[in-house]
Amino acid sequence: MRILVAGAGGLVGRAVTEHCLAQHDQIFSYTHETFDITDAASVRTTIEQVRPDAVINCAAWTDVDGCEIDSARAHAANANGPENLAKASRRCGAVLVTISTDYIFDGTKEGFYTQRDDPNPISVYGLSKLEGERRAQRALARTIAVRTGFVFGAGGRNFLSTVVERRRRGERLKTISDAWGTPTYAPHLAARMRELAERDLPGIFHVVNSGAGASYEEFALAALEAAGCDQTNLETVTMRSLNRRAPRSLKQSLMVFLPSSPPRCAIICLLF
Ligand SMILES: NC(=O)c1ccc[n+]([C@@H]2O[C@H](COP(=O)([O-])OP(=O)(O)OC[C@H]3O[C@@H](n4cnc5c(N)ncnc54)[C@H](OP(=O)(O)O)[C@@H]3O)[C@@H](O)[C@H]2O)c1
Repeated sequence: MRILVAGAGGLVGRAVTEHCLAQHDQIFSYTHETFDITDAASVRTTIEQVRPDAVINCAAWTDVDGCEIDSARAHAANANGPENLAKASRRCGAVLVTISTDYIFDGTKEGFYTQRDDPNPISVYGLSKLEGERRAQRALARTIAVRTGFVFGAGGRNFLSTVVERRRRGERLKTISDAWGTPTYAPHLAARMRELAERDLPGIFHVVNSGAGASYEEFALAALEAAGCDQTNLETVTMRSLNRRAPRSLKQSLMVFLPSSPPRCAIICLLF
């Protein structure tokens, strides 16, 4: 396939690029510097030049606390951006895969969130991402919105690498024990996104690694163990005690229906 990747400098964008290259796709990967998804005209021009079969959008403003301060920037990147990509994809007959997040839910539900649950974002970031899903779907019926959470992987900064780096620097770590999510390995997510693009299945998909999920603390402990670091001397804290700017739900666990995939990999729910 000819695949255009937006946000290719980020954690997921790098994983998508690597995965698609390994599948021998023709890849056109753009970082923020070379392709700004908020610039509708340039998005249109680039997509018309590349004429991809699929556009995979990994670009977003992911600074959850920053989004509370600058909601205009959050909406430009996370809502207008996917819409711009969807409109341009429609013009050239491409399918669009755009990533969304567990932050669109408020975390008050008992159990896992599925596609049948109504979103209720409690932060600007969550609102802007939900708006992005909806605008993209309105602009292009072939939009595939992939919701995921707690993504980790090699390279760049993510929760896993931050925990390990800080421990190696000898820092005392605070770990949150009362907030949960579904850790998802970036290469697994990337593989599922490409698969969805290839199958051309429009809709909303929850794509996470299988399992019961984990608290930030459990995830940190597993990361330290995997990296061969000392797991002792952690300071257990609550989410609320960190006084972060953006409100965060305590439960961000996504789950899916009708697993159609190998158990070791991210599960996809297909709802028609
Ligand atoms: N990481 C997670 O745990 C997680 C969980 C759920 C959902 N997601 C979603 O997954 C997607 C990818 O996240 P990630 O973890 O890979 O985040 P990331 O590492 O922050 O990557 C996002 C990339 O998008 C770029 N970007 C920002 N604004 C842009 C714009 N206007 N035009 C083009 N590129 C832009 C950023 O570049 P600069 O840094 O140079 O601005 C960055 O390279 C996002 O949609 C995010 O909401 C992530």
